[in-house]
Amino acid sequence: MRPTTMAEIAAAAPIIPVVTIERVEEAVPLAEALRTGGLRAVEITLRSDAARAALMRIREALPEFILGVGTVTRPEEFGDIARLGADFAVSPGVTPELLAAAEATGLPFLPGAATASEIMILSLRGWRYVKFFPAEVSGGRAALKALGPVFPHMQFCPTGGITAENAADYLALDNVACVGGSWITPAEAVRAGDWAEIERRAEWADGMASSRRTGTPAC
Ligand code: 3PG
Repeated sequence: MRPTTMAEIAAAAPIIPVVTIERVEEAVPLAEALRTGGLRAVEITLRSDAARAALMRIREALPEFILGVGTVTRPEEFGDIARLGADFAVSPGVTPELLAAAEATGLPFLPGAATASEIMILSLRGWRYVKFFPAEVSGGRAALKALGPVFPHMQFCPTGGITAENAADYLALDNVACVGGSWITPAEAVRAGDWAEIERRAEWADGMASSRRTGTPAC
């Protein structure tokens, strides 16, 4: 059974690969490589023409896979992606219209925020899970540590500049529920159909995610 809230999604998938699919044929082998490597979720961005068809194919081929849709910037996209089988939506930012659409569809939604004011808007409206974007250039871990005591009830999913080198340090923060990024699925490996490389990266990421769940160090 797939999770139905952002809290459950973050717990099941502390590391979420973010992918822009250029050719629909890439969608299922890519998702299969991630799943074989041990990951349970992917976020497909709406930055390509192939995105919607890719979503449908993954949903059909891997019914248990947790399917996120990223770069959601227009309210009407919520209805579209819910119909295509998305489990959650992600936006780089937040607007009142996007929040209203998320509330109307009931689709779990991770809105983006990078400042205290944006976080306050989300917090006042009842949001608890927020994408911290773009994480590294917005102050990275130091910013999240500073925001922690001010917003003790908020959980963040940093994305933008997360890498194999810094992901574990982000996940070690109390107010980080999950991290996202493209480093697990580099565009050149996807273009080349190098699914073994994607699987290897997913395995490594899953090791890090598992150690977070059990509290043991990644290596
Ligand atoms: C996103 O869509 O969340 C980011 O563009 C991913 O950023 P990254 O490519 O730096 O991981």
